[in-house]
Amino acid sequence: MNAFILSENRFDPKNIRKNESIMCRGNGYMCVRASLEEKYIGEQRNTLINGVFNAPPGEVSEIAVLPDATNCEIEIGGERFDMIRTDIQEYSRILDMKAGEGVRSLVWKSNSGRIRLEFKSIVSLTKKHITALKISITPLDQDTEIKIRAGIDAKVTNTGVQHFSAPVRRVYEDGILGLYLKTLQSGVDVSVHCRCSCDKPYKEEYTTDRRSVYSCISLSVKQGETAIFQKLTSYATSRDVEYAETDVCPETVNRDGTEYLKQALLCGYDALYAESAEMWKKYWEQSPLEICGSDFENKAISFAKYHLNVMASKDDNRVGIGAKGLSGEGYKGHSFWDTEIFILPYYIYTEPETARRLLEYRYKLLDSALLKAKRYGFEGAMYPWEGAWLTDGETCPEEGDLDLMTGEVRKNMMGEIEVHISADIAYAVWQYFQATGDEDFMQHCGYEMILLTAYFWSSRIAEKNGRYEILGVIGPDEYKDNIDNNAYTNYMAFYNLKLAEKIMDKIPEHLRKKYDTQKMLCRITETAERLYLPKADKDGIIPAFDGYRDLEETDTSKYKNRDKVGLIFKDYGFDEIQKLQVGKQADTIMLFHLLGDMFSDEEIKRNYEFYEQRTLHDSSLSMCFHALVGAKCALADEAAAMYHRACSVDIGENVNNSDEGIHSASIGGIWLALAMGFGGLCVEDGMLSVSPILPKGWSGYRFTVCFCGTRLLIETDSSGSQVKRLCGEEKEIRLSGKKLVV
Ligand code: BGC
Repeated sequence: MNAFILSENRFDPKNIRKNESIMCRGNGYMCVRASLEEKYIGEQRNTLINGVFNAPPGEVSEIAVLPDATNCEIEIGGERFDMIRTDIQEYSRILDMKAGEGVRSLVWKSNSGRIRLEFKSIVSLTKKHITALKISITPLDQDTEIKIRAGIDAKVTNTGVQHFSAPVRRVYEDGILGLYLKTLQSGVDVSVHCRCSCDKPYKEEYTTDRRSVYSCISLSVKQGETAIFQKLTSYATSRDVEYAETDVCPETVNRDGTEYLKQALLCGYDALYAESAEMWKKYWEQSPLEICGSDFENKAISFAKYHLNVMASKDDNRVGIGAKGLSGEGYKGHSFWDTEIFILPYYIYTEPETARRLLEYRYKLLDSALLKAKRYGFEGAMYPWEGAWLTDGETCPEEGDLDLMTGEVRKNMMGEIEVHISADIAYAVWQYFQATGDEDFMQHCGYEMILLTAYFWSSRIAEKNGRYEILGVIGPDEYKDNIDNNAYTNYMAFYNLKLAEKIMDKIPEHLRKKYDTQKMLCRITETAERLYLPKADKDGIIPAFDGYRDLEETDTSKYKNRDKVGLIFKDYGFDEIQKLQVGKQADTIMLFHLLGDMFSDEEIKRNYEFYEQRTLHDSSLSMCFHALVGAKCALADEAAAMYHRACSVDIGENVNNSDEGIHSASIGGIWLALAMGFGGLCVEDGMLSVSPILPKGWSGYRFTVCFCGTRLLIETDSSGSQVKRLCGEEKEIRLSGKKLVV
């Protein structure tokens, strides 16, 4: 089994949307879902650019679906190519993750005889504004008349919501089609240009219908000959990082968009592919990652690494990572705590520059966080639960689920009370600093972030029972609303407060001038001292929140480990679930990884088992963390089974799971559970430590770790583990408890 190939050997319309998501192509700037060239019912044809958000009146800002340039209709002898109504043979469709190319090949039994078709497409990794398509058409039985209609289509919406003005449409003398439009509220200019051509003599006409412009190519191809059609497209927007410091006008965006395309046209598909594939090759080679002995897990880890390259910007610190990456409009393109807790560790230890950019994005959201705190009567930095563009503020929709019978909409409280994200961000800042020693980042961003998030906690507490408590929150488990003293939130807040104490004497002068740091420190210290941290009860269980153990126990086996999530809602309403000992996802157990030092091994194991039984894993964030913590509790086989489930979230059998996009947290979690769970990767007192264990069924694994400028390869198999230095200075590290110099 080739670990770098995702494939489909039979066209099944049921899989259209899932394949669009998991096989999407992108480069961190933009992403194109892997929609088939010809249209099908049920498809979700999205092209997305990181940072292009728009908020229609009364709705929150969301990533706007851009004009489509993937649609391409082929007609042979007057018959439209369509895989549902016609006979298709020798079908194969793959995503070659090693090179970032999608390839579909088949033989179509048309009324004009058999036609061999091959479709290849990329989103260039080297020329970030460019997408490219190449179609090879070979009539096998007779000479044939072929027509191809392709262009740019702005008849696109985000599931019905229109974000763009009516476009200006143009065809230039050199056959370049152009389409310019603006987001309706946020005023982002977008230009799309494309050029279609063929390697055999052809006739080209231009047509247009509402919000679109097309090139229609017709040609005759002899039996056995191959006609190669090519379409290159460029996207540019006024939000591009190239214009970050300027007030750019639409003409410049259009001009640059045309220029990007002209540069690409000088190369053509093959050269664009070669250059982009070379860059992909370097990406794979720089940090080897492999699980041996288990093909599925090995494919999953490659899949994760592929998407981790597609989802994060390579040069823009004004954008984050969406819950679906850029692979679909699900979760409106918003960034959650998913980034800091699940995804960031991969970048911290593999691509620290990307990790820094992502944290700088959070730094740039500080103003929003300060404003949000004020709005709710608090101080310090209360980070948006859902982040979008820098000036969008909190983008968590206030409307929750709809009761169809009454028409009432439940208020969504997450934006207001799912506050743990502030501590999660502070935690991630410290993790980054531990692994990189990047004092420059700390001076410019990190110390201020830690200070202001800690200060937030000192205002978010309430004096109760002679101590400080954190009341009325939603913890990671989103099936519980408005709870008091969620263990996860309280412990993470405590860690955040302690971090602020720790960094106080490193706070740079400019911050001392900006804030009354002495006053802040006093409040922070006092809060840390008096903050209530739920402790294990007589059974050794740390209550997930106040009163948890008094809730009714229920048999969860009916609802968990099934194909569908949310099954519990068939039997219980949301309010009834509040009264049950059931959870949506990993919650308290996450502390055993994040703040492992604060708990004994015995406590961890007991609580892991207790809470796992009560967790439905209805969120894709759940399995990877259970695998990670399971591995730490020496429950290696259980952890491996959980890991398998985490790996299945996107590439498993479930056909609809990824319709709206891949699950970026779970994808980050696949790496996290491997490196930090099975691999035991952590930093202890400034020293890198790994202590790999090998679960049953695996014969080995390897991953790389970048630590303070040195890149190390960690390899484990049944004979033991070793660490090799790939580049950078010598480092003293700990391998399975023993110190050694690499
Ligand atoms: C989970 C959250 C997560 C969000 C975005 C929700 O279903 O409960 O923890 O942040 O999805 O992935």
